[in-house]
Amino acid sequence: MLCPIRPGDRPAAAPSPPPDSPGALKRTRGPGSAWRRVGWIAPAGAALLLTGCGQQSTLDPRSEPTREIANLWWAMLAASAIVFFGAAFLIFLSWLRRRKEGWPLLGKGDGLSTGLVVGFGIVIPIACLIVLFVFANLDVTKATEAPAQSTTSMTVEVTGRQWFWDVRYPGTGAVTANEIHIPVRTRVNLVARTGDVIHSFWVPQLNRKIDMIPGRTNRILLYADRPGRYRGQCAEFCGFQHAHMAMYVFADPPARFRAWLANAARPSRPALNAQQRRGQQVFLSNACANCHTIAGTPARGGIGPDLTHLQTRTTLAALTIPNRKGWLAGWVLDPQHIKPGNKMPGLNLTGPDFQALLAYLETLR
Ligand code: CUA
Repeated sequence: MLCPIRPGDRPAAAPSPPPDSPGALKRTRGPGSAWRRVGWIAPAGAALLLTGCGQQSTLDPRSEPTREIANLWWAMLAASAIVFFGAAFLIFLSWLRRRKEGWPLLGKGDGLSTGLVVGFGIVIPIACLIVLFVFANLDVTKATEAPAQSTTSMTVEVTGRQWFWDVRYPGTGAVTANEIHIPVRTRVNLVARTGDVIHSFWVPQLNRKIDMIPGRTNRILLYADRPGRYRGQCAEFCGFQHAHMAMYVFADPPARFRAWLANAARPSRPALNAQQRRGQQVFLSNACANCHTIAGTPARGGIGPDLTHLQTRTTLAALTIPNRKGWLAGWVLDPQHIKPGNKMPGLNLTGPDFQALLAYLETLR
């Protein structure tokens, strides 16, 4: 969807003097002033409306479960509009009655006014709640519940950790982080666990939220009916960097997915030149190897994300920054500046060691 405003952006408010200030009194109101007001109110209103759109909209569904959720949302909006405007209408009628004693519709003991109060105050709200309850429980809950394993074609295991997503493809050696690839139009059984506190896996365009609870295994269907990149977000407060715990789901055409998975299942390529070999030694002899795994090397740490194919990812630190050389260098030098509170310490490396380490990390494709 084309959306020039990202979620969270706010339209800039134009400063103006309060209406009773001297500045306001001195202002002259020519025939153009109304148009000038329209001139900034219209864009400001449009910008406010657009703040609701973006990559994470539940109203832009890309799967059957999310279409059900979007339908429920619209039904709830319609029901609440009926109840709200009904109540507003009754308030308006009572205001009319105070102004016009004996107004025909609203005489004392009038059956119509009793009917309006009972209808809008009791019958319609209860009817709306019952219809929504039945719709939500029989239809939407059923459409979004964990899929029968026999109806899915593959499994992806995602473990939430403070603050990234560890992603594994059982039966293959493929491990990645924060960027999940699935084949398009394929029912994927997503297994959700946590490595520490409660997280919640949520890709609004593909399905509802599923909590990751210590000691429990939850499941949900992951399905996308067209290729694309879908943004997701941890939906349960899980500590200081909860907001920086996002992920992408890439729904790839089947051939591209198979190629991605085949590459992801391979161990890392050997370092080719002297600088890359020095960088690998820097990685293995510093704290890096205690926390990160690079398949094909002795690095087997399990605290941070798997780095075997680091360069195939588009972002770093759970979508906090882009995965480009300058950003990667900044991250390795001072990760606490970019994502305070995360478990990675800055490294005190000499210039040549640092350059060699970067050169080695660039080979992890
Ligand atoms: Cu993980 Cu919030």
